[in-house]
Amino acid sequence: MFFFNLSIKLILIEMSTKPTIIITGGAGFIGSHTCIELANDFELIVIDNLYNSSQQSIDKVQKLINQKIIFYQEDLLNLNKIDSIFEKHQPEAVIHFAGLKAVGESIQKPLFYYQNNLNSTLSLLEVMKKYQCYNLIFSSSATVYGSQQSPLREDMDIGQGVTNPYGQTKFMIEIILKDVCISDSRWRIISLRYFNPVGAHPSGLIGENPNDIPNNLMPFILKVAINNNTSVHLGDQFNQLKIFGSDYSTQDGTCERDFIHVVDLAKGHLAALQKIDQLSGYHVFNLGTGKPISVLEMVKTFERVNQVLVPYQLSDRRPGDLEVCFCDPQHTKDILKWETEKRLEDMCLDAWKFQKLNPRGF
Ligand code: NAD
Ligand code: UFG
Repeated sequence: MFFFNLSIKLILIEMSTKPTIIITGGAGFIGSHTCIELANDFELIVIDNLYNSSQQSIDKVQKLINQKIIFYQEDLLNLNKIDSIFEKHQPEAVIHFAGLKAVGESIQKPLFYYQNNLNSTLSLLEVMKKYQCYNLIFSSSATVYGSQQSPLREDMDIGQGVTNPYGQTKFMIEIILKDVCISDSRWRIISLRYFNPVGAHPSGLIGENPNDIPNNLMPFILKVAINNNTSVHLGDQFNQLKIFGSDYSTQDGTCERDFIHVVDLAKGHLAALQKIDQLSGYHVFNLGTGKPISVLEMVKTFERVNQVLVPYQLSDRRPGDLEVCFCDPQHTKDILKWETEKRLEDMCLDAWKFQKLNPRGF
């Protein structure tokens, strides 16, 4: 309806009235990279409360795309304000990235996570319905598969063995989205289940910029690499990386994950938007490479391609970690005609470029 018919699309582009898309959480890590991939085809409206991001990421994306983004620093929980944004812009589609995502914090503050992630999604759906915007892409996560054996496929059960409130919100939202689609055939909703997004835009201008001490592997490697290979010192906690567990039943004893370059991931959203009018109802797709990479292999590759040292210590297992987690990407390839292009080396090179240019974040 909005993307699909090529001739209509070309006419629209000639008249420079591109379809409008609302991107919630568009100032964040994945949202900002996705804005870049969508800029040619869409008028971009970003709603973000900047809880875990900064205005600078919007400024930098605008610079990269040489195009204006309409930005609202708003909380999705503010229903009246969100309503007025929809009334004004009448979007054709929404990509819903906004959410809290720190697994550990979600265990400490479950109500905060349920309140933010669930209520913001419910409000968004209400407003979308009111303004008859029925096309939605949602950021889900591999976490919904629980502890099932990899490779993980979209037709597997979800929700069993999800160990933290963050993961529960993803599972619950998927259930809500499915029910919403059953209730009214005008809805077209796609949940994209991300595996482990890493890397940065090759320009080095934007990348992962967490406001707190990172829990995830790549942001931690980056800070350890800054401490040990540059004149910047980010604090003693980043002198050394702890590798959580070296006695797993994997090739080198460390956990294995499906790391995906954030630019590939961002392109997956464009692929989903290009397909959404041909699908009706609720659909899910994995976004991953399908190739397991061990934690140690990631560290070694990072050191090799960037010619840096990342001192590490083998430590105890981290509670709740899965031994191995990777996807079967075939369904996504078949239907969305999307697959990853970037290598592990690119993930390490681009992430380091961003970190060197922004050693203290932005
Ligand atoms: P991020 O924290 O960088 O981006 C999320 C953005 O949402 C932030 O800019 C934050 O300020 C904003 N936000 C949060 N609550 C909001 C609210 N109530 N109103 C308005 N804005 C709000 O995270 P990301 O890594 O870009 O992740 C994007 C989405 O993908 C999230 O939903 C996350 O759960 C999901 N996801 C991420 C990963 C990952 O490893 N990065 C993996 C699987 C799924
Ligand atoms: N790791 C370390 N040291 C660190 C940080 C991580 O060894 O300092 C290890 C972890 O133990 C794990 C691997 O690196 O084995 C990856 O850990 P991350 O925290 O980067 O990622 P996870 O796979 O644990 O979690 C990610 C997302 C979650 C999502 C989950 C779904 O961060 O949001 O994938 O599979 F729920």
